[in-house]
Amino acid sequence: MVSKADIDLYLRNFSLSEDSSNISMFETNKSRTEVSPIELNGVVLNKYTNEFWTHRQRQACSIHEISYRACFKPQLPRFFIQLLSEEDSVVYDPFSGRGTTVLEAGLLGRRIISNDANPLSSMLVRPRFTPPQLSEVQKRLAEIPTDSSVYSDIDLSMFFHKQTLSEILSLRRYLLERRKRNKEDDVDRWIAMVATNRLTGHSTGFFSVYTLPPNQAVSPERQIKINKARNQIPQYRNVRDIISTKTKSLLRSISKEQQFNLSRAANSALFICGDARSTPQIKSGEVQLVVTSPPFLDVVQYAKDNWLRLWFNSIDPNESGVPITMARSVKGWTEVMEAVFIELHRVCKSSGWVAFEVGEIKNRTINLDEHVVPIGISAGFECVGILVNSQEFSKTSNIWGVKNMKSGTNTNRIVLFRKN
Ligand SMILES: C[S@@+](CC[C@H](N)C(=O)[O-])C[C@H]1O[C@@H](n2cnc3c(N)ncnc32)[C@H](O)[C@@H]1O
Repeated sequence: MVSKADIDLYLRNFSLSEDSSNISMFETNKSRTEVSPIELNGVVLNKYTNEFWTHRQRQACSIHEISYRACFKPQLPRFFIQLLSEEDSVVYDPFSGRGTTVLEAGLLGRRIISNDANPLSSMLVRPRFTPPQLSEVQKRLAEIPTDSSVYSDIDLSMFFHKQTLSEILSLRRYLLERRKRNKEDDVDRWIAMVATNRLTGHSTGFFSVYTLPPNQAVSPERQIKINKARNQIPQYRNVRDIISTKTKSLLRSISKEQQFNLSRAANSALFICGDARSTPQIKSGEVQLVVTSPPFLDVVQYAKDNWLRLWFNSIDPNESGVPITMARSVKGWTEVMEAVFIELHRVCKSSGWVAFEVGEIKNRTINLDEHVVPIGISAGFECVGILVNSQEFSKTSNIWGVKNMKSGTNTNRIVLFRKN
């Protein structure tokens, strides 16, 4: 059983190896971790700053590559999953989003529970636990006829070419019909997931004319303005080809072992569309590890950003019955998180863990990590410390055709709790 003292020693002595699959609990390479004690409400704890994970590490599996607002990189949950859970133990994410935590846990042979108030979340996550073969997807797509008489209930001509729209509408009708008749299978769910991801974006790999990235669909009025400003009209995009290409890309790096692990995790997986404050579907003491990032203060409007994805899947966000938290003040945010932590304490087993990520420090004046510490403690957890992952990166900027390398820092802050 891993104790607080073990983690303290591990973090102090941590030194990143390029291949994180070999992390050993008591690796004692040259230490680079900066440890600074802080006092919060009379509790003294350590802030550990280091590059604990990085994009330079072993590439994340291609199956993750679905865009979602405010998602984290797979290396973040991988760090905690490898350190704080064993094979077959249950890893849970109450704010699952595109499912980065649960997919990484599944790939690593853990059992999973995924929850999110956004009904799109499970539609994006679940199919990737049972990925079909490319040939099965292509065969199914070829069987779905394009019907140019399918009528669209809203004007989408500013996003899509007429022929592309007919293909989208025919696919949508087929998928909704299969769902309604309870005939939907893994291949249908996969196609719906990929199509949802390819609706709008800024390259020819999407169904739409140039627009914002796929997880930030703009309104029709705004798209008309974008088209005018860029002097563009939607060109024809082949929906079947785009779905096939994205499928191939998502499946390109998945190994036989990872595929096996995912399908084993799928057998016992629980996908919930609900409020993280109340998850009666999860048994008390079932969860070994939670790795999560909550909605932050009013920065992302999940329902508004996703209107086109919700339309494609015929989901009315107002009727889904689950409110997506949009706290505008630290006080409002704290009240929601207090209830979330009480529920997390119930579902965690004793000696279980919660790694709670509160985003980058950049552009924010509020230290949410320091607000989270007393919330977790009053729910009954012990706070083990705050991890600050500071990652140097270089990016290429292109000014007047001259490429310059610029460097910057990505910072994630994670508050780590243990249930004693
Ligand atoms: C920061 S995102 C999580 C992203 C995730 N870590 C990933 O990698 O995709 C926060 C998520 O919380 C969800 N959410 C907001 N309020 C919620 C609530 N009360 N209960 C459950 N989920 C909620 C949002 O829909 C969003 O998907």
